[in-house]
Parts: sequence; structure tokens; C-alpha cells
Amino acid sequence: MDEIADYLANHLLELGIKENMSVLDFGCGSGNYTIPVAKIIGSDGRVIAIDEDQVKLEQLIVNAKEAKVEKRIEIMKSDGQLEISLKSKSIDLVMLYNVTCCIIGKNNYPEFQKLIKEIHGITKENGKFIIGIKEGKTMLNRIEKAISLMKRQFP
Ligand SMILES: C[S@@+](CC[C@H](N)C(=O)[O-])C[C@H]1O[C@@H](n2cnc3c(N)ncnc32)[C@H](O)[C@@H]1O
Repeated sequence: MDEIADYLANHLLELGIKENMSVLDFGCGSGNYTIPVAKIIGSDGRVIAIDEDQVKLEQLIVNAKEAKVEKRIEIMKSDGQLEISLKSKSIDLVMLYNVTCCIIGKNNYPEFQKLIKEIHGITKENGKFIIGIKEGKTMLNRIEKAISLMKRQFP
């Protein structure tokens, strides 16, 4: 278990997550990524954790308390809408871990584009955006297609 936690922490550090950052974890679930990020960003950072699933968010609260990082996490329950009510250009890094499959599904590129536009609006100029997937090549192909479709909007 500790090995997995260490691996994850190293992975997040390599992606550039640092102390004091503002991070959005969209589709956070019960916090597999939210909690390790909350540990890295320290007491002056914040993680905004959005999900539409109340049960998972309740589990996230339990997990955050166990890890003693609950004060660094702001939970936002969504209704599945893709509008993100955060201040424009206020976030250093946005994470979409294992959630693109729920948005794109088999063919829902317009919804994915809508979400990316929202993310672009709330992310700082030099901010970062991570898409993490574990669904394999089919989903990777769909995401690559979605990104190539978006290049016209974000050249
Ligand atoms: C496979 S889980 C991934 C959870 C977490 N990111 C992880 O990797 O462990 C996908 C999560 O995305 C959430 N989700 C899917 N579509 C969403 C939407 N439109 N708005 C908010 N959350 C959504 C689901 O409720 C679920 O908790």
C-alpha cells in the first residue's frame, strides 16, 4: 500500500504539482488523486474536488480526515453539468483522472470540448492540464481525436 502511495506521490511531483498550488480535481471520486495532491500542496495550497456522486464525495471527506488534509480540500457537488463555477484564471493545475471516458463516452466530442473550454477559462495563463486514463488504447484514440478536433479552437 505504501509503495502505491509513494509511486503516486512521485508521479504527481513529476507532473509539476508543488506546494501552494491551486488544483482542480474534476471527477474526483473518493479522492484517489485528491488526497495525495492535498498532501503535496501543503497548508497554503488548495484542491477543489468536483464530483456528481454524493456517496463518493462523502467517502472523500472520510479519507481526507483520515489523512488530515480535509482543510485543504474544497468539495463541490455538481449535477453533472460541465460549467465550472470558479473564478476565471484562478487555477494552476486541472486534473481529469479517469473521467474523460464518462464525458466522451463513445462519441460525445461536443461535451468534451465544452469541458475543455471551461477548464481553459479557469486555468491561469501558465497553468497545466492533466488527462489521466487507464482505459487503454480505444479511449486514448478517442481523446487524441477530440484534441485534434479542438486544435482549431486552441491553435
Ligand atoms: C472512474 S471515476 C474516477 C475517480 C477519480 N478521478 C480516480 O481516478 O480515482 C469517474 C468519476 O467522475 C465522476 N463524473 C463523471 N462525469 C461527471 C460530471 N459530468 N461531473 C462531475 N463528475 C463526474 C463520476 O461520478 C466518478 O466519480
